[in-house]
Amino acid sequence: MVLSSAQTELGDKTIRKRVFSGVQPSGSLHIGNYLGAIGRFALFQEGYDCFYSVVDLHAITVPQDPVELRKRTVATAALFVAAGLDPAKACIFVQSDNPSHSELAWVLQCVATFGELGRMTQFKDKARGKKSVTAGLFTYPVLMAADILLYDTDVVPVGEDQKQHVELTRDLAERFNKRFGVTFKVPEPLIPTQGGRIMSLTNPSRKMSKSDEDPDSRIEVLDPPEEIARKFKKAVTDSGREVVYDPEKKPAISNLMTIYSLFSGKSLEEVRDAYEGKGYGVFKSDLAEIVAEKLRPVREKYSQLMSSGEIEDILKKGAERAYEISSAKMREVKEKVGLCSRLRL
Ligand code: TYM
Repeated sequence: MVLSSAQTELGDKTIRKRVFSGVQPSGSLHIGNYLGAIGRFALFQEGYDCFYSVVDLHAITVPQDPVELRKRTVATAALFVAAGLDPAKACIFVQSDNPSHSELAWVLQCVATFGELGRMTQFKDKARGKKSVTAGLFTYPVLMAADILLYDTDVVPVGEDQKQHVELTRDLAERFNKRFGVTFKVPEPLIPTQGGRIMSLTNPSRKMSKSDEDPDSRIEVLDPPEEIARKFKKAVTDSGREVVYDPEKKPAISNLMTIYSLFSGKSLEEVRDAYEGKGYGVFKSDLAEIVAEKLRPVREKYSQLMSSGEIEDILKKGAERAYEISSAKMREVKEKVGLCSRLRL
């Protein structure tokens, strides 16, 4: 039998490989999130068994307004669907709807070490300059490991900033398996070669981020076309006027070229050739048009979903399916570790 890369053979049964990824509902999603993650989610839904979660437990590691958080959680799930996910093919659910996530996170916190968590660069970045940070922010990567390991995940599509967390997940899975017997599958991160790290429009040495105080540093997926045009027009550029890809010497224009290339489907060479001798102005205004046009159907589908209320039903079904799988894994974990399960939840 010839197996595709999305399948694996188990005895005489062929099963689809699993994909898991998560997105925090901690702000408006931007084109970095879109190119690095959610815009790619739908690519896997045909061949793989997919689980995509709105990870609200991760969001509360920093202060959140409860009303806003609840709204953003539903809005983020709506964006998953608006970006092309079909709830009949992929399981879409909210992390806090499924108690297995916090439960496994605790067990894995007793496997992870203080030293390895202290080496997480995202924690160091987020904690820098703060007088006080929550213990949850420190153990955040362990909750992420729990998300992934509960579903026997094979592949984790993420942006580059999550690579270290997936590597920690692999280490924890291997350590647990060695200590308690094989329980978890060891997952692989899947980071796009282009678009895995989209940079800020106002400071190309920093990644585009939901938490940047300057909203002009990012294009949000739901920004209207005029806003997209204004932000790209204002985006910093490098000296000179040539549209050439050189991340070392021209980080700002190289970032814009990457965005252009990914939204238009043209190679970086084609983009360079198309703008030879034309300067930054024409390039930026065409870029704004391409991005706005590509995001238009996503915006439209999002509005329709938010007004129909159908997301609630999708999330309820998603939580039921996710729990069915994760609770079986949790039973196995408790058994292996020596914890009691007197209630059959
Ligand atoms: P989050 O919510 O910060 O980001 C969601 C996804 O977007 C990617 N991303 C980017 N990609 C390219 N360029 C950028 N500038 C950029 N900024 C963000 C992120 O890499 C991510 O894929 N810890 C995760 C959420 C999470 C998770 C998981 C992911 C929790 N559990 C399990 C995968 C599997 C996070 O904070 O992503």
